[in-house]
Amino acid sequence: MDASESRVHDPKLRDVFDQAPERYERARPRYPASLVEEVVRATGAGPGVRVLEIAPGTGKLTVDLAGSGCAITAVEIGPRMAAVARRRLAAFPAVEVVVAAFEEWGPPPEPFDAVVCATAFHWLDPAVRTPKAARSLRPGGLLGVVATHHVAGGSEEFFAEVQQCYERWDPATPPGLRQTREAELATDTTEFTGSPYFTDVTVGGHAQEITYTTEQYLDLLLTYSNHRALARPARHGLLACVRALIDSRYDGVVTKRYWHELITAVRTDA
Ligand SMILES: C[S@@+](CC[C@H](N)C(=O)[O-])C[C@H]1O[C@@H](n2cnc3c(N)ncnc32)[C@H](O)[C@@H]1O
Repeated sequence: MDASESRVHDPKLRDVFDQAPERYERARPRYPASLVEEVVRATGAGPGVRVLEIAPGTGKLTVDLAGSGCAITAVEIGPRMAAVARRRLAAFPAVEVVVAAFEEWGPPPEPFDAVVCATAFHWLDPAVRTPKAARSLRPGGLLGVVATHHVAGGSEEFFAEVQQCYERWDPATPPGLRQTREAELATDTTEFTGSPYFTDVTVGGHAQEITYTTEQYLDLLLTYSNHRALARPARHGLLACVRALIDSRYDGVVTKRYWHELITAVRTDA
Protein backbone atom coordinates (compact mmCIF):
# COMPACT_ATOMS: atom_id res chain seq x y z
CA MET A 1 0.00 0.00 0.00
CA ASP A 2 1.52 3.33 -0.91
CA ALA A 3 -0.48 5.69 1.28
CA SER A 4 -0.29 6.07 5.03
CA GLU A 5 -3.24 8.34 5.52
CA SER A 6 -5.39 5.92 7.43
CA ARG A 7 -2.76 4.55 9.81
CA VAL A 8 -3.83 4.31 13.37
CA HIS A 9 -2.33 6.44 16.14
CA ASP A 10 1.37 5.57 16.42
CA PRO A 11 3.40 8.00 18.55
CA LYS A 12 6.68 6.48 17.28
CA LEU A 13 6.00 7.57 13.69
CA ARG A 14 4.28 10.94 14.10
CA ASP A 15 7.63 12.80 14.37
CA VAL A 16 8.87 11.65 10.96
CA PHE A 17 7.05 14.48 9.16
CA ASP A 18 9.40 16.94 10.82
CA GLN A 19 12.44 15.36 9.12
CA ALA A 20 11.46 16.67 5.69
CA PRO A 21 9.04 19.60 5.91
CA GLU A 22 10.04 21.18 2.58
CA ARG A 23 9.49 17.90 0.77
CA TYR A 24 6.08 17.62 2.43
CA GLU A 25 5.16 21.10 1.26
CA ARG A 26 6.45 20.44 -2.26
CA ALA A 27 5.02 16.98 -2.80
CA ARG A 28 1.74 16.74 -0.92
CA PRO A 29 -1.38 17.95 -2.72
CA ARG A 30 -3.43 20.99 -1.83
CA TYR A 31 -7.00 20.27 -0.92
CA PRO A 32 -9.56 20.70 -3.71
CA ALA A 33 -11.24 24.12 -3.80
CA SER A 34 -14.64 22.44 -3.35
CA LEU A 35 -13.50 20.89 -0.06
CA VAL A 36 -12.13 24.20 1.21
CA GLU A 37 -15.41 25.90 0.26
CA GLU A 38 -17.35 23.27 2.18
CA VAL A 39 -15.14 23.66 5.26
CA VAL A 40 -15.56 27.45 5.12
CA ARG A 41 -19.33 27.15 4.71
CA ALA A 42 -19.77 24.51 7.40
CA THR A 43 -17.60 26.29 9.97
CA GLY A 44 -18.87 29.75 9.06
CA ALA A 45 -15.21 30.81 8.80
CA GLY A 46 -14.86 34.52 8.12
CA PRO A 47 -13.88 37.74 9.88
CA GLY A 48 -14.51 37.53 13.64
CA VAL A 49 -14.71 33.72 13.68
CA ARG A 50 -12.11 31.84 15.77
CA VAL A 51 -10.90 28.52 14.42
CA LEU A 52 -8.61 25.95 16.06
CA GLU A 53 -6.70 23.80 13.59
CA ILE A 54 -5.11 20.66 14.99
CA ALA A 55 -1.89 19.48 13.28
CA PRO A 56 -1.69 21.95 10.37
CA GLY A 57 1.61 20.56 9.07
CA THR A 58 2.97 23.09 6.58
CA GLY A 59 -0.42 24.79 6.37
CA LYS A 60 -1.99 23.04 3.37
CA LEU A 61 -5.52 23.70 4.63
CA THR A 62 -4.61 26.63 6.88
CA VAL A 63 -3.58 28.98 4.06
CA ASP A 64 -6.84 28.46 2.18
CA LEU A 65 -8.91 28.74 5.35
CA ALA A 66 -7.06 31.91 6.38
CA GLY A 67 -8.17 33.43 3.08
CA SER A 68 -11.70 33.59 4.53
CA GLY A 69 -10.52 36.21 7.04
CA CYS A 70 -11.03 34.05 10.15
CA ALA A 71 -8.61 33.94 13.08
CA ILE A 72 -6.78 30.61 13.38
CA THR A 73 -4.80 29.04 16.19
CA ALA A 74 -2.92 26.09 14.69
CA VAL A 75 -1.31 23.51 17.01
CA GLU A 76 1.47 21.52 15.34
CA ILE A 77 3.84 19.09 17.05
CA GLY A 78 6.71 19.44 14.56
CA PRO A 79 8.78 22.64 14.96
CA ARG A 80 10.13 22.43 11.40
CA MET A 81 6.68 21.80 9.92
CA ALA A 82 5.43 24.75 11.99
CA ALA A 83 8.25 26.95 10.67
CA VAL A 84 7.15 26.29 7.08
CA ALA A 85 3.54 26.96 8.03
CA ARG A 86 4.49 30.27 9.69
CA ARG A 87 6.39 31.33 6.58
CA ARG A 88 3.44 30.49 4.33
CA LEU A 89 1.01 32.24 6.67
CA ALA A 90 3.07 35.38 7.23
CA ALA A 91 0.53 37.50 5.35
CA PHE A 92 -2.23 36.55 7.81
CA PRO A 93 -1.72 38.32 11.16
CA ALA A 94 -4.78 36.63 12.65
CA VAL A 95 -3.14 33.21 12.29
CA GLU A 96 -0.91 31.85 15.04
CA VAL A 97 1.04 28.59 14.79
CA VAL A 98 1.82 27.03 18.17
CA VAL A 99 4.36 24.21 18.51
CA ALA A 100 2.88 21.59 20.84
CA ALA A 101 1.36 18.14 20.92
CA PHE A 102 -2.38 18.73 20.80
CA GLU A 103 -2.85 16.29 23.67
CA GLU A 104 -0.61 18.41 25.94
CA TRP A 105 -1.52 21.89 24.69
CA GLY A 106 -3.44 24.20 27.03
CA PRO A 107 -6.41 25.78 25.20
CA PRO A 108 -7.27 29.44 25.94
CA PRO A 109 -10.22 30.07 28.29
CA GLU A 110 -12.53 31.28 25.50
CA PRO A 111 -13.70 28.34 23.39
CA PHE A 112 -13.37 28.31 19.60
CA ASP A 113 -16.20 28.61 17.06
CA ALA A 114 -14.79 25.73 15.02
CA VAL A 115 -12.14 23.01 15.26
CA VAL A 116 -10.66 21.47 12.11
CA CYS A 117 -8.11 18.74 11.52
CA ALA A 118 -6.93 17.61 8.07
CA THR A 119 -5.29 14.25 7.37
CA ALA A 120 -4.03 14.12 10.94
CA PHE A 121 -6.82 13.04 13.29
CA HIS A 122 -5.51 9.46 13.16
CA TRP A 123 -2.18 10.70 14.56
CA LEU A 124 -3.80 11.94 17.77
CA ASP A 125 -4.32 9.89 20.91
CA PRO A 126 -7.80 8.31 20.50
CA ALA A 127 -8.48 8.65 24.21
CA VAL A 128 -7.90 12.41 24.13
CA ARG A 129 -8.70 13.81 20.67
CA THR A 130 -12.52 13.91 20.63
CA PRO A 131 -13.13 15.02 24.24
CA LYS A 132 -10.39 17.64 23.97
CA ALA A 133 -11.69 18.92 20.61
CA ALA A 134 -15.11 19.17 22.29
CA ARG A 135 -13.71 21.08 25.30
CA SER A 136 -12.06 23.52 22.89
CA LEU A 137 -15.39 24.26 21.14
CA ARG A 138 -18.33 26.43 22.14
CA PRO A 139 -21.78 24.76 22.18
CA GLY A 140 -23.09 24.82 18.60
CA GLY A 141 -19.52 25.06 17.25
CA LEU A 142 -18.43 22.75 14.45
CA LEU A 143 -15.80 20.03 14.35
CA GLY A 144 -14.54 19.26 10.82
CA VAL A 145 -12.25 16.27 10.29
CA VAL A 146 -10.74 15.60 6.86
CA ALA A 147 -9.51 12.06 6.15
CA THR A 148 -7.55 11.53 2.94
CA HIS A 149 -7.82 8.18 1.16
CA HIS A 150 -6.00 6.83 -1.87
CA VAL A 151 -8.79 5.21 -3.87
CA ALA A 152 -9.24 3.23 -7.08
CA GLY A 153 -8.94 5.39 -10.18
CA GLY A 154 -6.21 7.12 -12.14
CA SER A 155 -3.50 4.64 -13.20
CA GLU A 156 -5.35 1.64 -11.74
CA GLU A 157 -3.19 -0.96 -13.45
CA PHE A 158 -0.03 0.63 -12.07
CA PHE A 159 -1.41 0.58 -8.52
CA ALA A 160 -2.25 -3.12 -8.88
CA GLU A 161 1.17 -3.92 -10.33
CA VAL A 162 3.13 -1.87 -7.80
CA GLN A 163 1.93 -4.18 -5.03
CA GLN A 164 4.67 -6.58 -6.15
CA CYS A 165 7.21 -3.96 -5.07
CA TYR A 166 5.53 -3.53 -1.69
CA GLU A 167 5.18 -7.27 -1.11
CA ARG A 168 8.87 -7.69 -1.86
CA TRP A 169 10.26 -4.78 0.18
CA ASP A 170 7.73 -3.92 2.90
CA PRO A 171 6.98 -6.82 5.27
CA ALA A 172 3.86 -5.01 6.57
CA THR A 173 2.12 -5.31 3.17
CA PRO A 174 -0.69 -7.87 3.12
CA PRO A 175 -0.64 -10.01 -0.04
CA GLY A 176 -3.04 -9.17 -2.88
CA LEU A 177 -4.00 -5.73 -1.55
CA ARG A 178 -6.28 -3.83 -3.94
CA GLN A 179 -7.57 -0.27 -3.89
CA THR A 180 -11.05 0.53 -2.62
CA ARG A 181 -13.51 2.62 -4.64
CA GLU A 182 -14.64 5.73 -2.83
CA ALA A 183 -18.26 4.52 -2.90
CA GLU A 184 -17.15 1.42 -0.96
CA LEU A 185 -15.34 3.26 1.84
CA ALA A 186 -16.84 2.30 5.16
CA THR A 187 -16.55 5.45 7.22
CA ASP A 188 -16.62 4.77 10.93
CA THR A 189 -18.17 7.78 12.66
CA THR A 190 -18.95 6.06 15.98
CA GLU A 191 -16.30 8.15 17.74
CA PHE A 192 -18.56 11.18 17.11
CA THR A 193 -22.05 9.65 16.98
CA GLY A 194 -21.31 7.83 20.24
CA SER A 195 -19.99 10.93 21.98
CA PRO A 196 -22.22 12.97 24.29
CA TYR A 197 -20.33 16.06 23.11
CA PHE A 198 -21.38 15.88 19.46
CA THR A 199 -24.54 15.66 17.38
CA ASP A 200 -25.62 16.09 13.73
CA VAL A 201 -22.73 14.07 12.30
CA THR A 202 -22.38 14.28 8.49
CA VAL A 203 -20.00 12.64 6.01
CA GLY A 204 -19.12 14.07 2.58
CA GLY A 205 -16.17 13.87 0.26
CA HIS A 206 -14.27 15.45 -2.60
CA ALA A 207 -12.17 13.67 -5.24
CA GLN A 208 -9.13 14.86 -7.09
CA GLU A 209 -6.70 13.14 -9.46
CA ILE A 210 -3.09 14.25 -9.70
CA THR A 211 -0.60 13.19 -12.35
CA TYR A 212 3.01 12.68 -11.28
CA THR A 213 6.25 12.14 -13.16
CA THR A 214 8.45 9.36 -11.77
CA GLU A 215 10.53 11.85 -9.76
CA GLN A 216 7.48 13.62 -8.39
CA TYR A 217 5.88 10.32 -7.41
CA LEU A 218 9.01 9.11 -5.57
CA ASP A 219 9.20 12.50 -3.83
CA LEU A 220 5.58 12.01 -2.70
CA LEU A 221 6.27 8.48 -1.42
CA LEU A 222 9.06 9.88 0.76
CA THR A 223 6.51 12.04 2.59
CA TYR A 224 4.63 8.98 3.89
CA SER A 225 5.58 7.97 7.39
CA ASN A 226 5.50 4.24 6.63
CA HIS A 227 7.93 4.68 3.73
CA ARG A 228 10.24 6.87 5.80
CA ALA A 229 10.13 4.32 8.61
CA LEU A 230 11.42 1.47 6.41
CA ALA A 231 15.04 0.43 6.98
CA ARG A 232 17.31 2.10 4.41
CA PRO A 233 17.95 -1.01 2.21
CA ALA A 234 14.23 -1.77 2.02
CA ARG A 235 13.38 1.86 1.25
CA HIS A 236 15.96 2.01 -1.52
CA GLY A 237 14.82 -1.32 -2.92
CA LEU A 238 11.19 -0.24 -2.88
CA LEU A 239 11.84 3.10 -4.55
CA ALA A 240 14.05 1.50 -7.22
CA CYS A 241 11.30 -1.04 -7.93
CA VAL A 242 8.62 1.68 -8.21
CA ARG A 243 10.87 3.81 -10.39
CA ALA A 244 11.60 0.93 -12.77
CA LEU A 245 7.90 0.10 -13.06
CA ILE A 246 6.77 3.67 -13.85
CA ASP A 247 9.59 4.24 -16.32
CA SER A 248 9.36 0.91 -18.12
CA ARG A 249 5.59 0.37 -18.24
CA TYR A 250 3.94 3.80 -17.81
CA ASP A 251 6.16 6.17 -19.82
CA GLY A 252 7.33 7.91 -16.65
CA VAL A 253 3.88 9.22 -15.61
CA VAL A 254 1.18 7.96 -13.21
CA THR A 255 -2.10 9.42 -11.95
CA LYS A 256 -3.28 8.97 -8.39
CA ARG A 257 -6.87 9.46 -7.23
CA TYR A 258 -7.53 10.96 -3.80
CA TRP A 259 -10.77 10.99 -1.87
CA HIS A 260 -10.82 13.69 0.79
CA GLU A 261 -13.57 12.79 3.18
CA LEU A 262 -15.05 15.49 5.40
CA ILE A 263 -16.76 14.48 8.64
CA THR A 264 -18.57 17.25 10.49
CA ALA A 265 -20.17 17.22 13.93
CA VAL A 266 -21.84 19.92 16.00
CA ARG A 267 -20.86 20.50 19.64
CA THR A 268 -23.69 19.80 22.09
CA ASP A 269 -24.30 21.63 25.39
CA ALA A 270 -23.02 18.61 27.37
C1 LIG B 1 -0.17 13.96 7.36
S1 LIG B 1 0.31 15.44 8.15
C2 LIG B 1 -1.08 16.51 7.85
C3 LIG B 1 -0.69 17.95 7.89
C4 LIG B 1 -1.74 18.94 7.38
N1 LIG B 1 -2.90 18.97 8.23
C5 LIG B 1 -2.12 18.65 5.96
O1 LIG B 1 -3.31 18.49 5.69
O2 LIG B 1 -1.25 18.62 5.08
C6 LIG B 1 0.14 15.04 9.87
C7 LIG B 1 0.60 16.19 10.77
O3 LIG B 1 0.21 15.89 12.11
C8 LIG B 1 1.22 16.39 12.98
N2 LIG B 1 0.99 15.74 14.28
C9 LIG B 1 1.10 14.42 14.55
N3 LIG B 1 0.78 14.19 15.83
C10 LIG B 1 0.44 15.39 16.38
C11 LIG B 1 0.00 15.78 17.69
N4 LIG B 1 -0.15 14.88 18.64
N5 LIG B 1 -0.27 17.09 17.90
C12 LIG B 1 -0.10 18.01 16.90
N6 LIG B 1 0.33 17.68 15.65
C13 LIG B 1 0.57 16.39 15.39
C14 LIG B 1 2.50 16.00 12.24
O4 LIG B 1 3.64 16.68 12.71
C15 LIG B 1 2.11 16.39 10.81
O5 LIG B 1 2.41 17.74 10.57
